Amino acid sequence: EARRLGCRLGHTVHWLEEVGSTNDVARRLAEAGAAEGTVVLAGRQRAGRGRLRRWWWSPLGGLWMSVILRPTLPPERLSLLTLAAAAAVAEAVEGQAERPVALKWPNDVLIDNRKVAGILLESVAHPDGAEYVVAGIGVNLDVEGEPVPAELEGRLTWLAREAPRPVSRNDLAEAILERLEARYGQLHQEGAEPVLAAWRARAAWLGEPVRVTLPTGEVVGIALDVAADGALVVEQADGRRRRVLAGDVQRLRP
Ligand code: BTN
Repeated sequence: EARRLGCRLGHTVHWLEEVGSTNDVARRLAEAGAAEGTVVLAGRQRAGRGRLRRWWWSPLGGLWMSVILRPTLPPERLSLLTLAAAAAVAEAVEGQAERPVALKWPNDVLIDNRKVAGILLESVAHPDGAEYVVAGIGVNLDVEGEPVPAELEGRLTWLAREAPRPVSRNDLAEAILERLEARYGQLHQEGAEPVLAAWRARAAWLGEPVRVTLPTGEVVGIALDVAADGALVVEQADGRRRRVLAGDVQRLRP
């Protein structure tokens, strides 16, 4: 089903100095009928959210952004939106920061194994079938001298520390929206393959032993690939293949 985007992502940008979470503001706007491509950008978040009900440290100096999407995709392709967004953010960060980045399934963006960006997709289905998705994107750009919380020490990094020259928040936001528009359009027009290929091109830890923590237990094995619906395929020691749809992946060092 070929479809052109009705509008450019970022045609309308709501800037807020401080919010709880940009995703919550974007959800309220979407509920009130805001068009696809509406963006909420904040200077800092008091209650930034991460995947798996985690909090997300969002100090001044970072890029905290949510984009309203109104996809017209069949359910199996809708689940690839998270990988499309991850590929888009990776491409933009790499272009702006001039450092190679890797993607950890499903959508952690890493530089030298430390997290530099994360993505939280929240979708809402309505009884009448209309659905919107809020794509929340957080990039650690600078921490403005704020101390890194102890529990994140060593696990995150930021572009002011990694990039050879300063990266501007506006340029990065524009680059992310441009790449997101391209990958999102591609998912509608060309299907899963190009998006999967873009994600795989930066995939960290495929072919390596991993442990995936699930709400119901864990899966240990070799991370083989991502499937056409975005699931991570893990081959266990007994040869059985497990498909993981949500969970936290850690590398098992030999
Ligand atoms: C993760 O890696 O766990 C996802 C982190 C997503 C953070 C962004 S920042 C903008 C948007 N608003 C939020 O509250 N979360 C997302």
